[in-house]
Amino acid sequence: MNASAELRFRLLAVLVGSSTLACGGATSDGLSSGGAGGTGGTTGGAGGSTTTGGTGGFVAGGTGGTTGGFGGVSTGGASTGGASTGGFGGVSTGGVGGAAGTAGVGGTSGGAGGSAGFGGIGGSSGAGGAGGGLITYGEVQCDAWCEGKTWDSCWPEGQVPVWPGVPMSNACPGAHEVDNQSYPLCGPGEVWFYDSQKKVPGMCCYTTEPQCLVGRPFVVAGEQRLAPAAARGDWGSHVLAMDEAEIDSATREQLHAVWLDDARQEHASVAAFAQLTLQLLALGAPPELLAASQVAGADEVRHAQGCFALASRFGSGLVGPGPLPVNGALDSIDLVSVAVATFEEGCVGETVAALLATEMRGHARDTQVVTLLNAIAEEEAQHAELAWSIVRWAVQLGGDNVKSAIACKLAEMQRVIHTRAAAEFEGDVEAWHAFGRLTPREALSVEREALDAVIAPCVDQLLASPSAARPSPVLSAQLS
Ligand SMILES: [Fe+2]
Ligand SMILES: [Fe+2]
Repeated sequence: MNASAELRFRLLAVLVGSSTLACGGATSDGLSSGGAGGTGGTTGGAGGSTTTGGTGGFVAGGTGGTTGGFGGVSTGGASTGGASTGGFGGVSTGGVGGAAGTAGVGGTSGGAGGSAGFGGIGGSSGAGGAGGGLITYGEVQCDAWCEGKTWDSCWPEGQVPVWPGVPMSNACPGAHEVDNQSYPLCGPGEVWFYDSQKKVPGMCCYTTEPQCLVGRPFVVAGEQRLAPAAARGDWGSHVLAMDEAEIDSATREQLHAVWLDDARQEHASVAAFAQLTLQLLALGAPPELLAASQVAGADEVRHAQGCFALASRFGSGLVGPGPLPVNGALDSIDLVSVAVATFEEGCVGETVAALLATEMRGHARDTQVVTLLNAIAEEEAQHAELAWSIVRWAVQLGGDNVKSAIACKLAEMQRVIHTRAAAEFEGDVEAWHAFGRLTPREALSVEREALDAVIAPCVDQLLASPSAARPSPVLSAQLS
C-alpha cells in the first residue's frame, strides 16, 4: 500500500454514513459554486477595465460569486468596489493617488455570499499623486497557493497600519506588526501574509506572499500569522555541526531558508492549535477532541524545534522565533466557520504535510533530517485524523450547512491546485533531496495526489454520513 492509500485508509476510518449534497444549493449534477439563489459565478467577478497612470483609471468590482466580487487592481487612479456578494473595494496601485474605494455591497439573497463588503484601499502617491497608503509592486496573486510567488506591499514611512496595541514607535514596524485587516488585498478565504522588510528610501516595504497550507497555519481574520526569525539558541539546542565540504554555500543558503520557513510555520501551528482548543471549548466540544488538540499543539512545538535546529545548522548562527502576534485570534467563532477552517487547515493542510514529509523522508539521506521527518510524517497524519474527527463532529451538530460549506471549499481548492503550475527550481537537486527537500514540481505532485486520492474520497464519505443536525443548547443560537 502506498503512502496515499495508507493515509486514506486511516482517515476514512474516522468517517461513516450515507447521503449526497450539492454545494450552494441543490443541483442535478453535483457541486456548483454559486450560492443558492444568489448571483454567484464561480469566484466572483473580476475587476472591469483598468487604466494605467493618467488621471484616474477606474476599476469596478464584478458581481459576486461565492467568494464575492473583488474590486480589482488599478494602476493609478481611483478604484471603486463594485456591487457584489461580499465584494471588496478596489486596490489602487501607483500613479495618481487614487481615491479610496467604496464599500462593496453585501449580497441580497441566499447562498454563501452576502457578508458586508470591505472598504476600498486608499490610492498611492505616484507621480504627482496626493494620496497616501498602500502601494503594491508586482502582481498580487492571492491564489498562487504554495507557489512561492510574492509581491511587495509598501507604505510611506509612518503610515503602516499596525495591530491594535502595537506602539507605533518605528516608522517602519516589523512585518509581524503590520495589520492587514485594514487592507484586504485578497478575497474572502484567501490568505496572505507579510514577511521580510525591505529598505526603500521614505517607504516601508514588505514581501507579501499568498497562503501555503502545509501543516496547520495560524490564521486570524484571513491573514496567516508567522513570528519573525530571531537570533536565539533555545529552539534548536540539538544543532549538529555542518561539514563545510558537504554542500556548496548557495545550496546551504537555500536549505537554511526553506527549513527556517518550515520552522516558522511549525511554530505558528502551536498557536493554531491553541486557537482551535479555545474555539472547541466555545462550541461545547467533547473532551477527546480538546485533549487531542492540546497534544497536537505540543507535537508542533517539537516540530518547530527540529526545523529551527536544521535552519541553524545550515545558517550562520542559532535561530528561533520572535514574538508571535495573537491579538484578534478569537474574534469570531461559529460552528460552520470553525468546521471549514478545520477542513482547510487540518484535513487538507495536515494531510498534505503528512504526505510531503513521507515523500521527503523517502529521498533523505541525512540522519538528523530522516529522524525529524519520521516524527513529522506520523504526527501530521495524527493531526489530520483529529481534523476529520472535528469536521465529523461538526456535521453531526450542524448538518447540511456544514457539509455544503466543506464541499464548496474542496471544489475551490481543487480548482486552484489543478490550474497552477510549479515554480521553476534552480539548484542541486541531489543535495536538496538528501537534506529532505522536494522540488516545487515534486511538491505540487504530492499536493494534487493528497487532494484527489485522499481528501476528496474522505469528503465523499463525510457527505454520506448522517446529519443528525440536533444542535446542543450551547449551539442553538449559533446555528440559526
Ligand atoms: Fe507540524
Ligand atoms: Fe500538524
